[in-house]
Amino acid sequence: MAKRPILTVPDPRLREVSKDVDEVNDETRALMDDMLETMYDAPGIGLAAIQVGVPQRIIVMDLAGKDEEPQPRYFVNPKILNPADEMAPYEEGCLSVPDAFEELDRPATCTVEYLDYDGQPQTLEAEGLLATCIQHEMDHLEGVLFIDHLSRLKRDRILKKLKREAKAREAEAADAPGVA
Ligand code: NI
Repeated sequence: MAKRPILTVPDPRLREVSKDVDEVNDETRALMDDMLETMYDAPGIGLAAIQVGVPQRIIVMDLAGKDEEPQPRYFVNPKILNPADEMAPYEEGCLSVPDAFEELDRPATCTVEYLDYDGQPQTLEAEGLLATCIQHEMDHLEGVLFIDHLSRLKRDRILKKLKREAKAREAEAADAPGVA
């Protein structure tokens, strides 16, 4: 396993629409292992492949609490069925949108069909944090970020701050002496 760099806004790759995985093979599993390690290290509770620059429909997740055993979940080619009419609010954040947390409403429950780590088809009834998280990650596969669901005012404020920070990092890197 190896950690991979996480793309952050305004990286244009985060806007790509990810493609279906043809076959879950060792290469897919190696990518999922890397994604999980990257996510744990961040730390985060969910990560889509495009967040490490791979435009494939793959999500990893672990919603276990601090004192619980790890519960890694892997979703390949996930599809959401039957989203509930009832909405549930949750304060969301995203590893690709650092330091921004905003409350969002999403369908409270949904059904997810996907292939697991071994390529086997699975169906899952999701509610609570799992439902929110899977919908947040599914958005990434369409090039959508959680801030897209906010008011323009809130979104612009977050984007401006992140662009300013990205520029500052670039300037700092340019000033760094003798590091290639
Ligand atoms: Ni995210």
